[in-house]
This record gives sequence, C-alpha cells and structure tokens, in this order.
Amino acid sequence: MRVITPLQALPLDQLRQRSSTKWRKFGDDVLPLFVAETDYPQAPAIREALSRAVASGDTGYTPPEPGVADAYAGFAERRFGWTVDPGRIRTTCDVMMAVVELLRRVTAPGDRVIINPPVYPPFFDVVPEAGAVVESVPLVDTGAGWELDLVGIEAALAAGARAVLLCNPHNPTGTVHSRETLATLADLAERYGATVISDEIHAPLTNLGATFTPFLDASPVAARVGYAVVSASKAFNLAGLKCALMVTADDATSALVRELPDEIEWRTGLFGAISAVAAFSPESDAWLDAQLAALDANRLLLRELLGEHVPGARYRVPDAGFLAWVDLTSLGWGDDPAEKIRREARVAVLQGPFFGVEGNGHVRINFGCSPDVLTEAVRRIGSLVG
Ligand SMILES: Cc1ncc(COP(=O)(O)O)c(C=O)c1O
Repeated sequence: MRVITPLQALPLDQLRQRSSTKWRKFGDDVLPLFVAETDYPQAPAIREALSRAVASGDTGYTPPEPGVADAYAGFAERRFGWTVDPGRIRTTCDVMMAVVELLRRVTAPGDRVIINPPVYPPFFDVVPEAGAVVESVPLVDTGAGWELDLVGIEAALAAGARAVLLCNPHNPTGTVHSRETLATLADLAERYGATVISDEIHAPLTNLGATFTPFLDASPVAARVGYAVVSASKAFNLAGLKCALMVTADDATSALVRELPDEIEWRTGLFGAISAVAAFSPESDAWLDAQLAALDANRLLLRELLGEHVPGARYRVPDAGFLAWVDLTSLGWGDDPAEKIRREARVAVLQGPFFGVEGNGHVRINFGCSPDVLTEAVRRIGSLVG
C-alpha cells in the first residue's frame, strides 16, 4: 500500500503575508477559520504553470478551448470513475455565476427553487438574483448524519417548485449524498418536470474512505434532468482565479449550455483556466491525496479537541471538505455564537445563522489549517467555557 505523507500547512507568519480575505479581514490577533480558503502550499504543477504565465506576461483573454474540459474529463474518470464528454462542458468565471446563469434559463421569474438548509449562504442570494424564489426544504438530521428530505422535496415539487439547487457534497455538514438518494431525487425531478443543479465544488475533497457520486452519474434519469457545476477552486485553493465548469450529460441540457451567451464563457479567468488544467492533471493527484490525508487527520483532531476543551459542542466528522459544522447550542451562547467567539476568544469562525435558521446556535469551522492553529483556536474557544 502506498504511504501518503500528509501535506503540511504553511506557518502563520507566511500565511499572514497573503492578501486574500482570510488574512486581511481581521487583525493579526484573530485566528481566521471562517472563509473557505486553505493554508497549504500551492500544488507544484499549479505554481509552475502560473509562474510561467506571469513570466511571459500571459495575462490576456481565455481562449475558447483552454484545455480545462479535457483535463476535467480525465480527473473525473480517475477520481470518480465518471466518464464525461468534454464536448458537453463549458466554462465561466465561478461556480455561483454558473448557478445563476443556469437558474435564469431553467426557471421563469417567480418560480420556486428548492434548497436544503443549513446550506452555503450564497444559495439564499443566487436564487433571487436569478429572479426565482427560495423554497427551503431542510436536511433531515437522522441522529447519525444528515440526509435530503426526499418526502419534503417531493411535496415542494408537487406544489410547483421548478428546480432543486443541490449541494453535493453538502456545505456545511460535509454530507456525501448516496447514489440511491441522488437517483431518487432525479426520479422526483423528472416526475414533476423540474431540473436539478448540482454544485459539486467540494467533490474532489471527498475523504478517501467515502464514495462521491456525481449527480449526473447517479442514474440515466439524473443525466437527463441535471446540470453539474464543478471547479478546482476549493480543492486547490484557487478561488481568486475564477474558473468553473458547467457539465452536462444529455443532448437537451448540453444544448442549453451551448446556447448560453458567449459572454458567460468570456468571463473565465485565464489564470483560473491555466491553474485548473494543472490541478486536474494527473501530476496533481499526489498533492491532492496528501492534502486529503492532512484533512483526514484534522477532522479527527477537531473531534478530540472539542471533546477536551468544549465538551458541550456537538460535531459529526464530515465525509468531505475542510469545513466542520459545530452545534454550540448547549453552551447558551445564543443564536450566533460566532460573535462571542470572535470578540472574546479572537477566533473567526463562520456564523451559523448565515446558513439558515437551522444554523442558529452553530458555527462553521474551517480546519484546512495546521494542527497547531486548529489546536490553538479550539483552546481559545474552550477558555470561554465556564
Ligand atoms: C458549496 C459551494 N459552492 C460555491 C462556492 C463558491 O464557489 P465560487 O467561488 O467558484 O463561486 C463555495 C465556496 O466555498 C461553496 O462552498
């Protein structure tokens, strides 16, 4: 068996030289575990590709076929066993813009779109941005994990909802939806003439012990009713570079994407495309595995740390991603414990209520950092426990 050495996060003094939101929003006395950026050194293939581009002044417009679709098709085959036709992929600048543009075309103004809170906060904003209306069908807490409420989703579709904006894997719970769940969702969508848009940005970060099912690969029906939006930006920390892919698996859905205005594709960042090609290439697989090993250790370390320092916290180890959904209700710190934690412990975590009312009393902790930073952050939070 191949031994994977976990990737080591950069030290804080180096990270504080970064100029991204994570490092500039708060002062140096605050440990930033809020926004979804990670603290690892960049994958070598990406570093080299971007360095070459900077050195040659390669800073113009993105060409029609920058190689991203082919690179992604290779990645999907290697990592998920999913065969994707590169001819059925188009790029744009980021995942949320892809979602808005797709929603605009599969809904009419005023249509209802189902989302499953607690969920990535911008889902609440992109639906109205596309002229539609949010219909919340919260995840079900099974006691052991979270699941889509397929009964609730069916009721909403039967009552006229036109689309489901799915988070697969789910942010903030790290839930990796099962093939059966996704296939049933697809059947429901087809029965009621609705569309599923599956945001799969966290998919490359599925823990090595779990199995990610791409929505379009869940069943032949899913391939007909769905659009997937993917990106290298979470797994490879490329959010500032702007490149996302709209993936389809059927003639009608491919035609809709092909007929999107060219302007949408022109918004793809050239550095985003260059880095996505490097990220999705086989050369970056070992780096990704090393990062997954580091995240696997951290998600378990967090459980230990919370048990020791914040025993009232409720946390389930996620199956994907670098985000932990932590229920602090029992501590009596109110609906929005993140405020108190930032003010009094100098740790920035993301506010649970941003994810919907289901997030009251919760925080989201980004553990894509060094074990030392994670330990210090939880120790600081623990110092507030009376
Ligand atoms: C589920 C989900 N979708 C989309 C995004 C943002 O993607 P982008 O910056 O490409 O719009 C994030 C960022 O954390 C996310 O968690």
